[in-house]
Amino acid sequence: MSKPTLDQLEELVAQALSRIEACANGDELTACEAEVHGKRSAFTQLQRSLGELEPEARREAGSTLQSARRRVLDAYARREGVLAEGERQAQYEADRLDLGDVVAAHVRLPLRAGHPGIIATTQATLEDVFVGMGFTIADGPQIETDWYNFEALNIPPAHPARGMWDTFYVELGEPETVLLRTHTSPTQIHLMEEAVANDTLPIHAVMPGRCFRRDTPDARHLAAFHQIEGLVVDEGITFADLAGVIEKFTKEYFGPEITSRLRPAYFPFTEPSAEFEITCTLCRGAGCRTCSQTGWIELGGCGMVDPAVFAAVGIDTSRYSGFAFGFGIDRCAQMRHGIADMRAIADNDVRFLEQFS
Ligand code: PHE
Repeated sequence: MSKPTLDQLEELVAQALSRIEACANGDELTACEAEVHGKRSAFTQLQRSLGELEPEARREAGSTLQSARRRVLDAYARREGVLAEGERQAQYEADRLDLGDVVAAHVRLPLRAGHPGIIATTQATLEDVFVGMGFTIADGPQIETDWYNFEALNIPPAHPARGMWDTFYVELGEPETVLLRTHTSPTQIHLMEEAVANDTLPIHAVMPGRCFRRDTPDARHLAAFHQIEGLVVDEGITFADLAGVIEKFTKEYFGPEITSRLRPAYFPFTEPSAEFEITCTLCRGAGCRTCSQTGWIELGGCGMVDPAVFAAVGIDTSRYSGFAFGFGIDRCAQMRHGIADMRAIADNDVRFLEQFS
């Protein structure tokens, strides 16, 4: 091989670059670099031949050679980066673990589809019954302010009636101003405020949702439970409308042999107020442990909307009257499906849950 000369430099660079591009992996690249820059390489020979030049010419030739070398070294570094990335990707692909494959190939679990829980299906059925009776469905927040859960419902601060609901407070702002709603009744206030603001009265709505009370769970109570609230505000609404809706709902949901009864009660936001009870579905009225031998099970409360509540939301009582009711969705599920102990609903024992698929 004849000695390379500086005239051939561009050609040498081009050759080196195309060799670098052709390297398919890190090893080839290392070998390529050794050849392109090694002791016997054209570059090294050219470097050595610089010594034969005059100082002026040597400096010029030296810097030309230097920049040619740099271009080759840069190309080498770039190629190295590209190859390393490719190898990393290949490694990722090789390491990928498809857990689905593992289960199918080795474990062969019987795959079973899940299904909605008993509360979700109970709520959906209740909604269907009320929609069939002409109600709309509304929703409200689970975290409430004192105004919606108590004050607007005619329960002023320090009122003894607050003792009816043991409350979980949320540490936010002033103490005891933000809370987990103890019933769905605050949603009544939201609906009435909106209807007044948008001038969309009358209201015929039910409002299902989760509620919270600082109660110790027992066979008939959970600390996190569900209620469905009903509210009708219209012209000429009377207690007879309320009693009719409760009885119609009872028969639609529990069946023709179950009836309802209203007993005088007290709620700050209704006047008059009543508790509504249905025939115990476990003993069909004969008396059993679940109904404390009375033959009746309390489902919820109801009454005519108190004028103080209408005043809080700005509804004109010379034109409108209304009724409200609220009862436990969990209690409905318990009665309809004969669940002796309500705590089973929250236990998440799959043997229990599977009964309601
Ligand atoms: N909010 C009441 C409770 O949870 C029930 C109720 C609703 C009573 C509507 C009257 C009217 O105890």
